[in-house]
Amino acid sequence: MRENCGGKRDVETYSYTHLSAGDLLREERSRKDSKSGQLIDSCIKEGKIVPVEITIDLLKKAMDETMKTDEKKFRFLIDGFPRNHDNLQGWKEVMDEKADVKFVLFFDCGNEVCINRCLERGKSSGRTDDNRESLEKRIQTYLQSTRPIIEQYEQQGKVHTIDASRSVDEVFADVKKILDKEG
Ligand code: C5P
Ligand code: MG
Repeated sequence: MRENCGGKRDVETYSYTHLSAGDLLREERSRKDSKSGQLIDSCIKEGKIVPVEITIDLLKKAMDETMKTDEKKFRFLIDGFPRNHDNLQGWKEVMDEKADVKFVLFFDCGNEVCINRCLERGKSSGRTDDNRESLEKRIQTYLQSTRPIIEQYEQQGKVHTIDASRSVDEVFADVKKILDKEG
């Protein structure tokens, strides 16, 4: 859920397809004839969450396309979603009948460590939100809007919390244990 914790690694060993909501939004932003490009751009810079109609459409398309290429690929690790109430509502409306949410991986890490990792990433990422100003805003969005969603999943007993302040290898070792158990 939080930054830079190696979500993509999981997929190399397990049969999950990694889909990142942020990556899909950045891709859509750079598509020439995108109607949502400008809105996505300003949300990303401001650390705000893009209206779910846009994000769920991109996620659903990516899931459908993956399953079309290989019918065995029906397991997804969705990275960075749902980030707020609107995201969760949109998921429920569009996906509740179609997909089960088995569990949530919560990569827990203090704000300063997160910010420093993203500032480090910003040296080469070219991302418009890897700067202190945007990162502070993203932390606020996390506290106000994402944290309550994690709490909802916690009440359903679906959350695995991982201490993501450690090294990538240590974090991934924990992720592996969870994926081995969850299947
Ligand atoms: O997860 P990532 O760091 O790639 O997210 C970058 C930005 O993309 C977020 O700060 C937000 O502006 C946007 N985003 C969103 N809705 C999501 C995930 C990401 O609006 N579910
Ligand atoms: Mg991400």
